[in-house]
Amino acid sequence: MRYLLVLSLLWLAGSPLAIAQGEFVPGCSADDLTQQQSTLSAFLTLDFAADFDRALANFFRLGALYQTTALQCGYMPNNIEVDQMLEQALKFVSLEDLIAAQSVGSDVEAVLLELDEVYGDPLQGQLLYNGLEPALGGTALGCSGCHENEAVAPLTAGTWTRINDIRLALPQFADYSLRQFLVESIVQPMAYVTPDYAAMMPEFYGGQLTPQQLADLVAFLDSQDQLLEDE
Ligand code: HEC
Repeated sequence: MRYLLVLSLLWLAGSPLAIAQGEFVPGCSADDLTQQQSTLSAFLTLDFAADFDRALANFFRLGALYQTTALQCGYMPNNIEVDQMLEQALKFVSLEDLIAAQSVGSDVEAVLLELDEVYGDPLQGQLLYNGLEPALGGTALGCSGCHENEAVAPLTAGTWTRINDIRLALPQFADYSLRQFLVESIVQPMAYVTPDYAAMMPEFYGGQLTPQQLADLVAFLDSQDQLLEDE
């Protein structure tokens, strides 16, 4: 569950790993790694009180460097270690800040640019949509809870077709791509409220999804191209 959050900082605390100034010190023995860890920790300051942004940036750099070394040394932490590392990491930075640093945000233009670099996986998107895989912070998304009931929200089945044939034919969406419509619907749901429905979709998804997760959701909705029976 907590893997998503942990991925970028997995390696920070418990693991005896380090690299000095981005250069690999050869050797994966426990002694080598312990020595590298102390060198690197001294090199990158994590003084959150003095300069929060810099410390946060260093925090992620440190995590990335540890990850690289871990992979080079063939090390994969087990679940207990992952939990311990998360607990350690949370001593340095709050859960809210970690989530904010990893979430995609709700500026549609910026989000679209970011998604250009990400390849969405529809199967992963389906799991997220149905709450079977957690979003950031371990939250289950409630998409299917509303979108499987036509009286509450437009049905999941046929989303691609409905948007392509009906929504994008509206004058205000003349210069929208389908992806743009989907992204806006998810991170800025109040920008356009579908006729006949209440404006009830939550507005916090931009803060709960990584760019990868949003790309996965969009890829899943792209796959919903069943024919519409009526509308
Ligand atoms: C509380 C109920 C609720 C939840 C939860 C919810 N939605 Fe919605 N959604 C709606 C309603 C109602 C509409 C139509 C009104 C509007 O446009 O805001 C809508 C509209 C949409 C549309 C536009 C559909 C169209 O045909 O124009 C998309 C896409 C969408 N939602 C995706 C999602 C995704 C993805 C999630 C989960 C991350 C989600 N929704 C969660 C209620 C919900």
